[in-house]
Amino acid sequence: MDFSLTEEHIMIRDAARDFAQTELLPGVIERDNAQTFPDELVKKMGALGFMGIMVDPKYGGSGMDAISYVLIMEELSKIDASASVMVSVNNSLVCYGLETYGTEEQKQKYLTKLASGESIGAFCLSEPEAGSDATSQKTTAIDKGDHYVINGTKNWITNGGRSDVYLVIAQTDRDKAHKGINAFIVEKGTPGFDIGPKEDKLGIRGSDTHTLQFNDVKVPKENRIGEDGFGFKFAMKTLSGGRIGIAAQALGIAAGAYELALKYSKERKAFGTEICNHQAIAFKLADMYTEIEAARMLVMKAAWDKDQGNNYDMSSAMAKLYASKVAMEQTVEAVQIHGGNGFVKEYHVERMMRDAKITQIYEGTSEIQKIVISRGVIKG
Ligand code: CAA
Repeated sequence: MDFSLTEEHIMIRDAARDFAQTELLPGVIERDNAQTFPDELVKKMGALGFMGIMVDPKYGGSGMDAISYVLIMEELSKIDASASVMVSVNNSLVCYGLETYGTEEQKQKYLTKLASGESIGAFCLSEPEAGSDATSQKTTAIDKGDHYVINGTKNWITNGGRSDVYLVIAQTDRDKAHKGINAFIVEKGTPGFDIGPKEDKLGIRGSDTHTLQFNDVKVPKENRIGEDGFGFKFAMKTLSGGRIGIAAQALGIAAGAYELALKYSKERKAFGTEICNHQAIAFKLADMYTEIEAARMLVMKAAWDKDQGNNYDMSSAMAKLYASKVAMEQTVEAVQIHGGNGFVKEYHVERMMRDAKITQIYEGTSEIQKIVISRGVIKG
């Protein structure tokens, strides 16, 4: 067993850290207030290879492993979780899904641009009445011979406004239940495909989240991903990898808040000494550090499983369940250590506390992760 990172991993981590400090930190508070994220920053992340981290270079990707992916995700998330969710969705839901299950034509047409950051992708599974209960798809995709016609609504779609390519899950044959679900590539601008207004959110406010409407949207048959009826398995398999990305995001939010709290506790004085010298604060720091390290081990293990070709359904669910809990709890502690300053935007930790909450909700709530883990435990 070897817990050390390779030299290459350290270089990748440091490059992501440097980018986050120099490019993401300036303006992060303003972006959160204004609910924006400039395209030029997305392009810069693409130029650094962050939009297609694990994609084969022959399709425009960086050809890195899942360990590199979580290292990059952690570093970006320490500073700006709105940036990192764009990276996570594009990498592990869209690029991974297309590279693993798409046809050669689909990869040439869509993946090469997505992996290089030239275009952005979104993953459209959730609906007003199908969030956790993902098999209850109301969106339909009716087979019309050489094309499908899609009708329905998708909710809470990350990158919903800025994407060029949307992977849309829909029900083709209701009698076949989850075996009658398909996944499709839908291009922005297809007639009948409308993007609703941006959601006004608690956290990750720089990331754009939209409701999408599909009214008689014609999608060519060659845009279906996989065999007829593969759509639900496609979503589940893709989400297992997505959960590694979100677990790394949660880890980064927790670690970023901890680093700020540690620094603050060494500077701020009360009762004649720096507050880190008070046991009340020192013990908080000890708990934070321990829990963040434990979360990091689970995140790394899930990424390692993926790199080894092991099944990672359970390890990704465990990593996300635990890292998101740590993110929520430790960002609250970071605010507490900052006292009154923690409640003020300029100190960043209140934003991190707001950003942490979504990691317990998207790509499967904590309760869904417990379903996945408990089924795995019982099955043995
Ligand atoms: N890999 C492959 N197949 C899988 C699978 C996996 N990981 N998990 C389930 N399946 C298969 C099952 O084997 C079954 O197929 P068979 O009948 O052929 O055996 C089929 O899928 C249905 O599975 P279940 O019977 O287990 O289905 P269920 O209704 O009990 O639900 C669930 C399972 C795990 C709860 C699933 O519904 C789920 O994951 N829900 C949460 C959805 C989710 O994560 N949504 C997030 C939205 S995306 C998002 O947030 C992106 C973003 O923008 C940030």
